[in-house]
Amino acid sequence: MLEIKGLASISPLGHLNEFRKDPLLFLSDLYQQYETIVSFRFAHRKIHLLLEPDLIKEVLVSKQNSFHKSKPFQEMKTLLGEGLLTSEDDFHMKQRRLIQPSFTKQHVQTYAEKMTMITEEFITSWGDDEERLTSRDMMELTLAIIAKTMFSMDMKQGHEKVGKHLDVIMNIATKRIRSVLKSPLALKTPQNKSLTEAIKKIDDVLYEIIKNRSNLDTQNDLLEVLMRARDEESNEGMSNQQLRDEAMTIFLAGHETTANALSWCLYLISQHPDKAKLLYEEVDRVLGKKRADYDSMKDLIYTQQMIWESMRLYPPAWLISRKAMNDVTIGQYKVHKGETVMMSSYIMHRSEKYFTNADEFIPERFQNGKVQGVPEFVYFPFGGGPRVCIGNHFAIMEATLVLATLVKHYSFELVSNHHKVEAEPLITLRPKNGLRMIVKKRK
Ligand code: HEM
Repeated sequence: MLEIKGLASISPLGHLNEFRKDPLLFLSDLYQQYETIVSFRFAHRKIHLLLEPDLIKEVLVSKQNSFHKSKPFQEMKTLLGEGLLTSEDDFHMKQRRLIQPSFTKQHVQTYAEKMTMITEEFITSWGDDEERLTSRDMMELTLAIIAKTMFSMDMKQGHEKVGKHLDVIMNIATKRIRSVLKSPLALKTPQNKSLTEAIKKIDDVLYEIIKNRSNLDTQNDLLEVLMRARDEESNEGMSNQQLRDEAMTIFLAGHETTANALSWCLYLISQHPDKAKLLYEEVDRVLGKKRADYDSMKDLIYTQQMIWESMRLYPPAWLISRKAMNDVTIGQYKVHKGETVMMSSYIMHRSEKYFTNADEFIPERFQNGKVQGVPEFVYFPFGGGPRVCIGNHFAIMEATLVLATLVKHYSFELVSNHHKVEAEPLITLRPKNGLRMIVKKRK
């Protein structure tokens, strides 16, 4: 057994303040110095940062039974209840088995047409040479897509109804995750009140959808699958609370991440005119005047390479963490019950050890979502193992069809007086203070 090297700290908070100040810098610095595994403390919590792909694979795949989701996800339970992202063990497996068929590669194809049509409709209101808050646009668009494909719901004014409340929740949840002392939610502090109100607003929307779904035969969507499901033993259906938790989970997990992936992609395109030219050429050649559809996916190769590469540099789910449920050995190291392991795709994706010119945007390095010669679990934007992102095929298809449809009609430039674009590592990795772009009609 090898000893895990640890960072010393005399502060009662350990390294929490350094992490809070700039998480990406804190973790990148550790990678430069340690390369395999390193420990530190957030107050009383012992954390191990895994920097070797084999260790990451053990935690996510072969030893996954010894780990549960850790603190950030526990915090997210306030919002998500016992949905797929936050539940554990047998209950999680049961729900996953139920939901999985709606997300197979074959099944998600059936959503392609809706994705493109919603995007086309979404951009009809855009002008020529118009300044837009593109990061907000991407959130609204992906929210509309998830609402329509999963719940057959037309999400007009998605930002007003759901998006802005999710923003409030994500910001407060991030603060709570990073603080040592938190007020119990029952205490009516201004922050707790905002959180409870925001959750209530989204709950109202979700319970309304559930209530209005009386005719189960008409919609072939996820909500129908959930409502039809029966417990193998008791033959009981899901309670409204459970339906709400799964719906809330899909709403949140299914739009914010893809929106960020698209925003980062548009940003990178705006910074690399030579790559943008190749993208426009491909989209014009493959689509011509027709709409992007599932068949065009096989020819939108550069478009997909751009998405994989954008998610390498800016992985929307930039940090995955787990808590050990028992003493467990990973590699040659002992992790004790109750300790946390962290795995950061942001750090691994920028490793010079595995990627040539790691900080540069080079979409061509990807072939079928992989970079030749790079071992498994160096690039893991969707996590891995039994808890790998259930929406991975959905997300790749959505991002490809949306990006192709956007650049078929528009080009994207940052506004000239834009603030310095920086990554903001909240629960997902967002462009800090948004992304303002000039959209110009291409034809
Ligand atoms: C680019 C877009 C996306 C990225 C980068 C992404 C990333 C991830 C990652 C890394 C995980 C694993 C978290 C962990 O192990 O702790 C995850 C889980 C999950 N994702 Fe995604 N996701 C994306 C899109 C989606 C979409 C479109 C949906 C649904 C429509 C979705 C639904 C989920 C769910 C339900 C889980 C929990 C799965 C489980 O624990 O069984 N995601 N996602």
